[in-house]
Amino acid sequence: MENLRIPGPTPLPNEVLKVMSRQMINHRGAEFGQILQDVTAKLKQLFLTKDDVFLLTGSGTGGLEAAIVNTLSPGDKVLSVSVGVFGERFGSIAEKFGAEVIPLRFEWGKAADADAIRKALLANPGIKAVLVTHNETSTGVTNDLASISSVVKESGKLLLVDAISSLGSIALPVDDWHVDVAVTASQKGWMAPPGLAMVSVSQEAWQAHTKAKMPRCYWDFTVAKKYLEKGQTPWTPAVSVVFTFTVALEMMLKEGLSNIIARHARVGKAARDGVKSLGLSLFAEESCASNTVTAVAASNGLDTKKMLKTLREDYKIILSGGQQKLDGKIFRIGHLGWVTENDIRAVISALKVALPQAGFKR
Ligand SMILES: Cc1ncc(COP(=O)(O)O)c(C=O)c1O
Repeated sequence: MENLRIPGPTPLPNEVLKVMSRQMINHRGAEFGQILQDVTAKLKQLFLTKDDVFLLTGSGTGGLEAAIVNTLSPGDKVLSVSVGVFGERFGSIAEKFGAEVIPLRFEWGKAADADAIRKALLANPGIKAVLVTHNETSTGVTNDLASISSVVKESGKLLLVDAISSLGSIALPVDDWHVDVAVTASQKGWMAPPGLAMVSVSQEAWQAHTKAKMPRCYWDFTVAKKYLEKGQTPWTPAVSVVFTFTVALEMMLKEGLSNIIARHARVGKAARDGVKSLGLSLFAEESCASNTVTAVAASNGLDTKKMLKTLREDYKIILSGGQQKLDGKIFRIGHLGWVTENDIRAVISALKVALPQAGFKR
């Protein structure tokens, strides 16, 4: 078996794999309705929200589009806080649907600065919403969402959060931090395969929704709510992925959210300590380094592509390279979902041999 250590999709526990082979059932029948209601209730416990949560069939990017088109109108001013590839994506979706996007970019590898966000909001009082990536998977950075949220809520703006690679793994109490729409996806920390985006919708987001004029069809929250009330989704859902949630979410609740968060903190530390012990440096500043993905700078002659190939072919360990301008400049170790310190120790041991073979000199 491969040791798949990319930042999603992640390996799946055997119990989850088994339920994937379940026969189809009527997605408009009573049994599926019960499953959908149960899964949604469990997700609310893990999101720490009393508001609505919807399962949308699609990937995380679909969830980001849903957050935007359901709360905004063309011409609305939006502050797009970006610390990497996925922050840029969130802003570009808003732009494509006609929002007036004001970008606020921070150096890749660093976190967003809440004071700079405050200044941008004061300078542009017409801003309606702030887009933020909680955990920037492309750079291995976790933003301080609690501080960002206080600043955003001080000025009464909507807070739309890409929590795709954080929710369920890194602390994000959705209600306590006043997140209006939080988006995550099944293939990240949820021990489930790709196929579902999950979004929470606050009361404030619903108010914005009543006035939001961006075009939408597949991703309409009003339609999603109407169908969920009768135990259905508007369109045919990824039934097998919903089945996996019946097992994966039960496992998560059994472990307990605080234990899951602590496990990710331990595994994240093991990854960071491990790469540093080999003479490598983190790409992200350590103070904001993520507990779900570690980005490592390619230095001292390291050819990352050669190294990734050796790990894949000789050790069946799959890591990720860098995206866009970070291609060849970093590599990334994913450690979210079904992961323990031992999985990361195996990666570090293999790296010890593969690094010098790929040109790395200490
Ligand atoms: C932070 C973040 N945002 C957005 C995405 C895009 O999600 P998807 O590939 O499921 O559309 C990802 C996936 O890696 C991500 O990590």
